[in-house]
Amino acid sequence: MEVVVLPTYAEMSKAAAQIVADVLNTKPNAVLGMATGSTPLGLYQELVRMHREEGLDFTQVTTFNLDEYVGLRPNHSQSYHYFMQENFFKHVNMAAGNIYIPSGTTSNYRSFCEWYERRIQECGGIDVQILGIGSDGHIAFNEPGSSLSSRTRLKTLAQSTIEDNARFFERKEDVPIYAITMGVGTILEARTLVLCASGQNKAAAVAAMVEGPVTSMNTASALQLHPEARVFLDESAAGHLKMREYYDWVKKMKPGAPKV
Ligand code: GLP
Repeated sequence: MEVVVLPTYAEMSKAAAQIVADVLNTKPNAVLGMATGSTPLGLYQELVRMHREEGLDFTQVTTFNLDEYVGLRPNHSQSYHYFMQENFFKHVNMAAGNIYIPSGTTSNYRSFCEWYERRIQECGGIDVQILGIGSDGHIAFNEPGSSLSSRTRLKTLAQSTIEDNARFFERKEDVPIYAITMGVGTILEARTLVLCASGQNKAAAVAAMVEGPVTSMNTASALQLHPEARVFLDESAAGHLKMREYYDWVKKMKPGAPKV
């Protein structure tokens, strides 16, 4: 796992966006795994800027989103469909037919989830998966206790997640209780993982993910099992890391390392 600490949220977002851009520049028809939440907003803004100013092209790109709330229609202002449309898709040149987001309103969740998994495979698998982390260590909506080999499925949200996400809804009672989410096993199959975390309220979950044991109690810790996991943090999210000096040393020495 590569851990890169940057002084600010903006620099963290730029560094993570550069990974995505590098992949698109070598593979214009790459498959991207998309995340929602406030953390990846800066990353998306940077990709939009690259699209506008540097011609970063999305016409051949396919995307798969991690998750969606059950019960919210795509045009609901807090649905992840709406989030993606407003914060990313409408600002770049993606083909509408190449966008996949789990359905929060299907009549058959089981068969939808199986189809979603199949579609990822048929599209060649995910090249880069963007991730955030919940304050309880979840990735996507894989709450503590989720199997580390889980696949796309319906999950009940943890009460702490409902509380964390209540800030986006008018009332806490409006936060959906269920979500459809890629599993930890699904996520681990992506070729590269890019996880961003910002802010003090993520510091404990981040330390457990990076330096704690691999455990379903912090599903982000499964990134330790992945050969290409890259973690981008701002100063406050890195606040509880014990090996901080080493991560900074590795970053400083990276330009001189033999090319692999
Ligand atoms: C939700 C999403 C996650 C996201 C997390 C953190 O629970 N399902 O994918 O990582 O929120 O969100 P934020 O970045 O807003 O802290």
